[in-house]
Amino acid sequence: MKIAVVGGGNRCRNLLDLIEKHSFSEISPKIVAVADKKDDAPGLVKARENGLFVTNDYNDLFDRDDIDLIMELTGDQDVFNEILKKKKKTVRAVAHWIINFLYEISVALNSQVLAKQRLKEQRARCDVIMNVAINEKVMVISPDYRIIDANENLLKKAGLRRDQAIGRYCYEVSHNLDAPCSGERSPCPLPQAIKTKKPSQTTHIHTDKDNNELFFSVSCYPVFEDGKVIGVVGISRDITKDVNIQKLMVQQDRLASIGRLAAGVAHEINNPMTTILTSVMLMQEDTDPNDPNYQELKTIVDETLRCSKIVTSLLDFARQMKPAKKMSNPTDIIAECIVLTKKQAEFNDVVIVENLSEDLPLTNIDGDKIQQALINLTLNAIEATGPGGKVTLSAKFVPNNETFEITICDSGTGISDKDIDKIFDPFFTTKENGTGLGLAITLGIIEQHGGTIDVKSKLGQGTSFTIRLPLDQGNKDVHSL
Ligand SMILES: Nc1ncnc2c1ncn2[C@@H]1O[C@H](COP(=O)(O)OP(=O)(O)OP(=O)(O)O)[C@@H](O)[C@H]1O
Ligand SMILES: [Mg+2]
Repeated sequence: MKIAVVGGGNRCRNLLDLIEKHSFSEISPKIVAVADKKDDAPGLVKARENGLFVTNDYNDLFDRDDIDLIMELTGDQDVFNEILKKKKKTVRAVAHWIINFLYEISVALNSQVLAKQRLKEQRARCDVIMNVAINEKVMVISPDYRIIDANENLLKKAGLRRDQAIGRYCYEVSHNLDAPCSGERSPCPLPQAIKTKKPSQTTHIHTDKDNNELFFSVSCYPVFEDGKVIGVVGISRDITKDVNIQKLMVQQDRLASIGRLAAGVAHEINNPMTTILTSVMLMQEDTDPNDPNYQELKTIVDETLRCSKIVTSLLDFARQMKPAKKMSNPTDIIAECIVLTKKQAEFNDVVIVENLSEDLPLTNIDGDKIQQALINLTLNAIEATGPGGKVTLSAKFVPNNETFEITICDSGTGISDKDIDKIFDPFFTTKENGTGLGLAITLGIIEQHGGTIDVKSKLGQGTSFTIRLPLDQGNKDVHSL
């Protein structure tokens, strides 16, 4: 199709370019002539350069035989009307507005094709991100916490199909909550990521059905469109193993330092203690058993022996030596602990209350060590309780999970939130003459028995420590043969 253009402006030049470069499938258009009043009109200049017929008077076009179509690009309706009047019958004509209209349609179609293509590419990229990170739970979330997309891993854990998850709130699907995650143990990183337009990370601490702590690293990465944050990619990763390894390393570090200290101190303490012990034993030999001092001397001997044992235990603990277990009666051990701490309680004007179940079964434990742990806790409780206060020791057997629960509860000062995470650290003390080893040793002993120790405290109201020891039947079965 041979075309003559009336109006040699920019649009004419663009048309010349387009026809030159584009390969048409059904028609093969060719511009053969351009008319414009101005000699320097860009379309006319280009046509001249290309060796086409050019003229300043469009009337020159009507006599030519090599034209099938005249395009009017001047934008002047009168010019188009004149073309219609003067052109040969076999020649067709189109007005500028039809060409504008066709041009706009082609631009719109083009941008639709491009947008579809872009969407396809984005979707493919997203699919890779969403489904490659198989160990992580991944969601794309809008700023109002609605799920835009989620990966297979998350959907599997939530027991949902993708279409069931999309549109629901992220906290509903991932945490079964009816409001966004919050609080110290599960802070939400989304608002921070939206506000700062930067990635934000928090750690969630949850507990499983056995009361074990599980740690999750939760990160939000902002997603931008035209410079605006339109949502975030939220990634949740289970980091419990990493945290536990880290804790173990810190614990081992502490143990190593206690070990070094204990080894040095034990030698120095044992010598004077042996001197005290022999002197007191000699004095006891020279004292009549009916003498009131005889009993006091016996207490000094017993307590010095206990000190000596504590030094040994400290060394055991530092070296993580195995406890010497034998079948023991927990009721006896607790009763003995009360006897040994009663004097200290009386001195502080604190009442010790026993609340022991009678049917505690025998268990395979190192009675001396457990007693030492209970004495540490009871002394702490007495020391934290003012005159007129109360310390309660209770013990019960929980048949469901086969554990002993021993609780030492006091009406004392309580522990501040700032301190509570540190009380089991070796050498942490708030007392003028404390070593800060009591709870570290206690924790070591309980852990060596496969048990746990929990603390609950309210400042000004009191503290309660709960030890949970698994029932260990030892070689009971061998006895019953
Ligand atoms: N029942 C309690 N009430 C209030 N605070 C307590 C209680 N038990 C422990 N604590 C706090 O924990 C800290 C550490 O206790 P831990 O038994 O390890 O050492 P200590 O008692 O300070 O020293 P030591 O045991 O050598 O006398 C205490 O200093 C105290 O601040
Ligand atoms: Mg103590």
